Amino acid sequence: MSDKIYIFDTTLRDGEQVPGCQLNLEEKLMIARQLDLLGVDIIEAGFPVSSPGDFKSVEGISKVVENATVCGLTRAVKNDIEVAAQALKFARKPRIHTGIGSSDIHIQYKFNSNRDEILQRGVEAVKYAKTFVEDVEFYAEDAGRADLEFLARLTEAVIKAGATVVNLPDTTGYLMPHQMYDRVHYLMNNVPNVDKAILSMHNHNDLGMATANTIAGIRAGARQVEVTINGIGERAGNTSLEEVAMILKVHKDLGLYSDIKTEMLNPLSKLVSQTMRMPVQANKAVVGRNAFAHSSGIHQDGFLKHQENYEIMTPQEVGIDKSDIVLTARSGRHALKHRLEILGFKLDKAKLDEAYHQFLELADSIKEVNDKDLVPLMKQLAEVE
Ligand code: KIV
Ligand code: ZN
Repeated sequence: MSDKIYIFDTTLRDGEQVPGCQLNLEEKLMIARQLDLLGVDIIEAGFPVSSPGDFKSVEGISKVVENATVCGLTRAVKNDIEVAAQALKFARKPRIHTGIGSSDIHIQYKFNSNRDEILQRGVEAVKYAKTFVEDVEFYAEDAGRADLEFLARLTEAVIKAGATVVNLPDTTGYLMPHQMYDRVHYLMNNVPNVDKAILSMHNHNDLGMATANTIAGIRAGARQVEVTINGIGERAGNTSLEEVAMILKVHKDLGLYSDIKTEMLNPLSKLVSQTMRMPVQANKAVVGRNAFAHSSGIHQDGFLKHQENYEIMTPQEVGIDKSDIVLTARSGRHALKHRLEILGFKLDKAKLDEAYHQFLELADSIKEVNDKDLVPLMKQLAEVE
């Protein structure tokens, strides 16, 4: 039996907080519609109390989204919750995401408070949010550095207050995967009413561990993941949606699945990158320009013999037309022959050797040899004959 992982997309909230990535209402509506078609379960549309613009976005997104739950973020503050409820009033499935810092660092330096008072405030926020909507998610900010016994007490209390989901953010991207596994495993086994809610992973990428920590968390029992397209988000970013979706698809052995239509991943990655003016690094997993490009002779030869030699998923599965054989000075004869055949040149072994020799000279002088460079090279060879 396979368990569903709920995909909670926060591109338009945590992702949009990135300096320079701000979107206008039209752009947000366009992305929200695409996320809905992609098959995400929850769209975190914004933080309504933060600005009139964000309020309007959450309201507008609530109107256009047809399938996903639409969620608004709040602090554990009555006015925030009232404003979020107002912004979500047109949503077919509204969710309020409220919460408070849970680590001693946050409790002391952000709130100048103590654990008991924080727990009380969390419980009151959940109860208040429940007077507006049925679906209330609680976030224990900086849960990654929180005292585990206190986190268990807090989780139990907010579930008792009515939280349907408890989010355990590694806000500072501090944990390593084995630690995340142990913490979620502890909560799954030590919070008496844990089965009444879903535990959620919300990991930041400060040590490059966001995706690994998210997978560790779901292996230990969490069933919701909070992710962004291209992994955009505060500082080093959030867990990347496309990575988690493809891990679930490639590793069926995990016994977990999502409803993401993975063929939409690359188009959506491009849309978010362009509208947010945030380039995707070439070697980004799943959607980077080089994610399906093969450039060394050994890899190209192996790939041309059988795709599975060097690919664990197909480019089509993620919405990319085809794999790429990039011709550089590191390429071998097999790749050159393949490219020339596509261009209509069929060469015997001696001619191919000659062409390869010339190709290498050219490739050493330019970074990448394209079709427009190969055709003159072949003409030159023909003239010499
Ligand atoms: O990283 C974080 O802790 C958050 C919460 C507000 C959910 O984004
Ligand atoms: Zn976050």
